[in-house]
Amino acid sequence: MTTLTITQPDDLHLHVRDGEALKSVVPDTAKQFARAIIMPNLAEPITSVAMASNYREQILSASQSTSFTPLMTLYLTDKTDTATIKEVNSSHFTHALKLYPAGATTNSDKGVTDLANITPALEAMQKLGVPLLVHGEVTDPSIDIFDREQAFIDTTLIPLIKQFPDLKVVLEHITTRQAVDFVNQASDNIVATITAHHLLMNRNDIFTGGIRPHHYCLPVLKRETHRQALVTAATSGSPKFFLGTDSAPHPQHAKESACGCAGMYTALHAMELYTEAFDNADALNKLEGFASFYGADFYGLEHNTNTITLKKEKWQVPKSLTLGDSTIIPLRANEFCEWKLI
Ligand code: DOR
Ligand code: ZN
Repeated sequence: MTTLTITQPDDLHLHVRDGEALKSVVPDTAKQFARAIIMPNLAEPITSVAMASNYREQILSASQSTSFTPLMTLYLTDKTDTATIKEVNSSHFTHALKLYPAGATTNSDKGVTDLANITPALEAMQKLGVPLLVHGEVTDPSIDIFDREQAFIDTTLIPLIKQFPDLKVVLEHITTRQAVDFVNQASDNIVATITAHHLLMNRNDIFTGGIRPHHYCLPVLKRETHRQALVTAATSGSPKFFLGTDSAPHPQHAKESACGCAGMYTALHAMELYTEAFDNADALNKLEGFASFYGADFYGLEHNTNTITLKKEKWQVPKSLTLGDSTIIPLRANEFCEWKLI
């Protein structure tokens, strides 16, 4: 197959930051995706519907597209109350709340320190059908970084689901075979997003010829057997697995540093990268469900009606891009993509 036309996809996990950086990155997403679930982990996290409304306006005015819809989320803290959950449920533009275990990743220091602190909020979310989006890694520094997702599933997620069996949960950006197995065995209300970078790379890519800060993200890339399990899940046709890029812009200087930030910038060419991953697995016929239907179905949204077309044509990714008054290095900078969005 040399061209592929599918229903316009949605990105169910995206970081766009704020201010000048936001203006640089939002158009990249809006060129490909009809909608995106916007992560709330700004330096000052989005913790109320009023803040989400303001943030949404910034994204809409930066999108350079009249048809792009940001789907807003709130950041759970130890203080999130049931009134906030009710407000999320009745607002037409807020769709979920995100659980960042405090200390797990970028701007997570104001996250939840103990799930017991948000029991009433979780009860309300379960009752109202408001999805809980989860960064699934334990924060205990004594746990090996490559085992933190599995440890989270065992010590936190399984007990959580036992306590709230009807809670809608998205295990975000899964990276391991154990996460795939867990989601497959769980009930229908438990689903997962998968990034393009975790489908295309393994942990060797962090160290090819030297340390590669632009290949550092959280959860960190895992070994090849896990990558293969993710490809199997994404291309299985199961509605439990859908597209979430986790595109996470950081300025070049913050990545290329003695203590570099976590995150890869894939918004530029996300659909090209996913298409390549599905093509490598000989599963292009499974891309549309994964990219355009299953996420929308989980969130109770209509399917998009536009289409996008991709062509099998090699092109070179720019060396760098503008990010506000700085620069950003996209994934595959100066290297090639096999598919091109037309
Ligand atoms: O690599 C990541 N970057 N993982 C996350 O969980 C957060 C994200 C970010 O916000 O930079
Ligand atoms: Zn993320």
